[in-house]
Formats: sequence, C-alpha cells, structure tokens
Amino acid sequence: MTEFKPLVFSGVQPTGNLHLGNYLGAIRKFVALQENNDCIYCVVDMHALTAQLVHEDMATQIRSITAAFLAAGIDAKKHIVFNQSQVPQHAELAWIFNCVARIGWMNRMTQFKDKAGKDREQASLGLYAYPSLMAADILVYRATHVPVGDDQKQHLELARDIAMKFNMDFHDKIVPTGLGVDIKVGEEPVHAYFPMVEPLIDGPAPRVMSLKDGTKKMSKSDPSDLSRINLMDDQDAISKKIRKAKTDPDALPSETEGLKGRPEADNLVGIFAALADTSKADVLAEFGGQQFSVFKPALVDLAVEVLAPINAEMRRLMEDPGHIDAVLRDGGERARVRAEKTMNEVRDIIGFVR
Ligand code: TRP
Repeated sequence: MTEFKPLVFSGVQPTGNLHLGNYLGAIRKFVALQENNDCIYCVVDMHALTAQLVHEDMATQIRSITAAFLAAGIDAKKHIVFNQSQVPQHAELAWIFNCVARIGWMNRMTQFKDKAGKDREQASLGLYAYPSLMAADILVYRATHVPVGDDQKQHLELARDIAMKFNMDFHDKIVPTGLGVDIKVGEEPVHAYFPMVEPLIDGPAPRVMSLKDGTKKMSKSDPSDLSRINLMDDQDAISKKIRKAKTDPDALPSETEGLKGRPEADNLVGIFAALADTSKADVLAEFGGQQFSVFKPALVDLAVEVLAPINAEMRRLMEDPGHIDAVLRDGGERARVRAEKTMNEVRDIIGFVR
C-alpha cells in the first residue's frame, strides 16, 4: 500500500476581522500542526468574492490574515503561506471539478442555502460553486489532512466525492500513466490519483461563543463588537469586553456538570481552558465556588497574556505591507510549482494536448 504522503492544507477567507474563535479554533491548530507535518496555509481571496464582489479593503484584509498567521507563529519559510489568487491552478482545477461534481451534490450543501438566503436567484454562481473551488484548493496539492471547523465538514465530504468520482471515471487513464498511488477506501484497495481528504476537526479546541449570547457562535458578522474579541484588540478593549461579557448571577460550579444550562458560564470557562491549554474541569477545580467578579479578572489577565504578543506582532507586521507581500509572493511561487505539477498530470489523465 503506497498511501499519499501526509500534507496539511487549510484556508481562511480575508473577510472581516479575525477574532478569538478563529484563533483558538483554527490558527492555533495550524501552528501546532506545523511541528510534524508539511503544511500549506492559504488566504482564500477568490472565495471572498462569492458572497460580495467588491471589497474596498481587499489587500488590507489579505495582509491582515497573513499577519495573524505569522504573528501566531506559522513559519512561512518552512511551510507555505500565500494567497489563493497567486496560484491560478486552483481556479483551473476548480473548473474541472465543476464538471466532475453533480448538480444534485451541490444542491445538498447547507452552507449555500444559509448564505444564499431566501433570494437564491440573486446569489452568485461563485457562491454555488464555492465547495468545488475549495476541493480544488486542497486537491491541487493532493493534500491529505484539512484542519477546519465543524461547519466545513460537508464541504470536505464533497471534496472526497469529487476525488472519488475523478479516480473512478479516469481509472483507465490513471493506471497506465502510472500517476496514482494505492490507497485503502474502507476495506477496498484502490489505485487513486486524488487522496480521500480527512478533516482534522476540533479536538480540544472549543466552540467559542458570543460574549453577549452564549448560544450563538462568536462571529465576525455580529453587529455588536462587544460580542467578540478581535485579534487586533488591544489590552483595554480585551479587558472591557470580558468585563462586559454576559453572565448569570450564580457562582461557578466545581464540576463541568454544573455548566449545563448556563451557556455564558460554559463559554467563559471554555475560553479560559483553551487559552490556558487545560480542560474545563481543571479550570473549575480552581475557580469552582467563585463569583464572576473573581473569575473575570483572571480571564482578562490570561487573555491579555496570550493575545497581547500576537496583537503587538500583528501591528508591527502591518506597518510593513511590503514585507507581507514578499512573504505571500514567495509562498505563491513555491505553491505554483507544486500546483502546476498536479495540473500537468491532470491534463495528461484527461487527455488534453500540451
Ligand atoms: N470554506 C472555508 C471557510 O469558510 C475556507 C476555505 C476555502 C478552506 N478553501 C479551503 C478551508 C480549503 C480548508 C481548505 O472556513
């Protein structure tokens, strides 16, 4: 069994400010994964056009996600950091995948239904094809592992369906060209060109909820800025937002059981645990029986301790956009070499003349 070489790929859209949820749920995981894996992290600027075509501050948004990656500790020399539009092979493979994916598959995508809303006729064709471009992002590098949030699981299943159909439909072309590798699909050995990507979902990372409503996800689109901690927030803003965070009048319980039915308490304890890299149980072992008037200042201190250095580094990086652009250009060049190799093989498998 020759299995694919492990490769991690993930993408973040350059829309809105990054917040604590993005950091704890995604970026911190990206940082951890680079220890033992070859990683490619992409600012998916072409995806940003799907919901809204014109972005006044597109370049700043791209740079700010890049700055967050670098400030959090992603090593752009060892790994690859770039923005999607610098590698046109993503769009090229996406076109082929548009012809692999079936309309019936796309119609099942729940995120399209949510984002398109009631007036589906007015949604862009790009929004509909979004998951096909996402599959191409990953598979143009034949990446095997994708750290994403729960909401992207369905898109990854679609990527597997696309990979599987391509592998099956072109099987008679893949085998003689010698381009695929043997993989196991369930119990079956299959000779495949594209791997079956696996999501790396959550693990210890929490679902970070709004500071104003513990039942809603922390979101960059929430109209209230007090609902989230942005990675660009300074110490005063972090402290103010945590002090104003919604709570209930009771003291903290000593066991996680006691967090049931207390979404705001659960959220703040979860954030504390994630920032401290421990469990909620450990946090409650320390703070059980204490009032929020004691817990919140401790959370402020911890949040500032973890986030202030990232914040400072992001600000420093953002003062030198030329440097960020150079990092992206270098990453783009290296990504293009790999993507073009795949595309040449795909062209050969399909039978395009080149
Ligand atoms: N759809 C992802 C999101 O909104 C972003 C994304 C685009 C992505 N392409 C990707 C994530 C490829 C992982 C891999 O979060």
